[in-house]
Amino acid sequence: MAVCYLGLGSNLGNRRKFIRLALERVGALEKTKVIKVSQLYETEPQGFIAASPGFINAAAKISTPLSALKLLKELKAIESELGRKKFKGLRSRPIDLDILFYGNKRISLPYLKVPHPRVTERDFVLRPLKDIAGPLIKSLSAKMKVISKISSMREFIRAQKIKGRTIGFVPTMGALHQGHLSLIRQAKKDNDRCVVSIFVNPIQFGPKEDYKKYPRDLERDSILARSAGCDCVFFPDAGEMYPENYLTYVFVEKITDCLCARLRPGHFKGVTTVVSKLFNIIGPDIAYFGQKDYQQALVIKKMAEDLNMPLKIKVMPTIRESDGLAMSSRNAYLSAQERLDAAVLHQALQKAKEMIFQGERNSRKIIREMRKMILKKKSAKIDYALVADARTLVPVNVIRGKTLIALAARIGKTRLIDNMVVC
Ligand code: PAF
Repeated sequence: MAVCYLGLGSNLGNRRKFIRLALERVGALEKTKVIKVSQLYETEPQGFIAASPGFINAAAKISTPLSALKLLKELKAIESELGRKKFKGLRSRPIDLDILFYGNKRISLPYLKVPHPRVTERDFVLRPLKDIAGPLIKSLSAKMKVISKISSMREFIRAQKIKGRTIGFVPTMGALHQGHLSLIRQAKKDNDRCVVSIFVNPIQFGPKEDYKKYPRDLERDSILARSAGCDCVFFPDAGEMYPENYLTYVFVEKITDCLCARLRPGHFKGVTTVVSKLFNIIGPDIAYFGQKDYQQALVIKKMAEDLNMPLKIKVMPTIRESDGLAMSSRNAYLSAQERLDAAVLHQALQKAKEMIFQGERNSRKIIREMRKMILKKKSAKIDYALVADARTLVPVNVIRGKTLIALAARIGKTRLIDNMVVC
């Protein structure tokens, strides 16, 4: 008998019923027992946009005498019995059944990979699995260090450096998504060790911003970070980073007066302060930032250059959902309709690119077109839409040389940003 974990998902028709029917069918397979079932979770479709509601996902622990291949065949038969059609690519479906774990076995065939390769990368698997396989899930991030004290972090780094190892560093505030994971993968590829910090930095949030409600789930983030190649998570608390009597701040001038700073005064001072503290604690060879936060990356580059910080800053491309929406931890706040509307930011940037490609150089005309497109969405309010010199962030009337097209808008109550650089 093998003990296995299955992932179940449905986003068409009576979703709960399909999950229940699938579990009944699994329980009716030869000498197979369904031992435990997780709660049902509502999740967003991943890798495609569905007009129908999101997915309902669950995980089940079963025992079965069937081989992994026979079990896979039976699961496919259940899927087609419950109305799933065969399609290439990702689509809405009444039922989706995956083998996540099959005992301790590792299988790597073109049509079956066990443990399931996305087990540790996707919330729709992780959340239900945590209900019924907590220790198994914990063991997935067990090899990774989680350090919360600055002194211990320094010790870890010292031990790596004595051995001549290089350090790649990805600073984050947690709520990791594919954008962060791509930075972690790159950091691991370029360096011997990858360190990720998870710290929701209070001094970069305004008094009316989402500091308190910012999503925090260390266990989930650790598993995701580990799966992308992280060797050590630095997870200090606010008291460790800003003890009583804390008085020192780092501030970059001029390029922090505009764009996001106008509606978020003090934000960049908070970012540069925490990032310089983190650089001092971790001493990375290379630190990684996403181009989605273009202004942040530019400000940090300038800070590192002006303060002669001995490291390299690498800015990596924005990772997008299949409809172009830039990945962001704040996308999780969007309702289903807002999520569909949010794609308009990328569409507006694409429109600007097309206009520039066709020879338009007048910034006002480009901005007018982008604003028009965005404001067609009832949920959208624009904070700014501008065309600026990509190095100085000073707005330009005529597009010449390296130019930044940047947008910030509220979709419902969620503030999203996106940008594009044209040369
Ligand atoms: O981009 C972020 O998540 C934050 O601004 C950063 C760089 C981790 C500093 O808190």
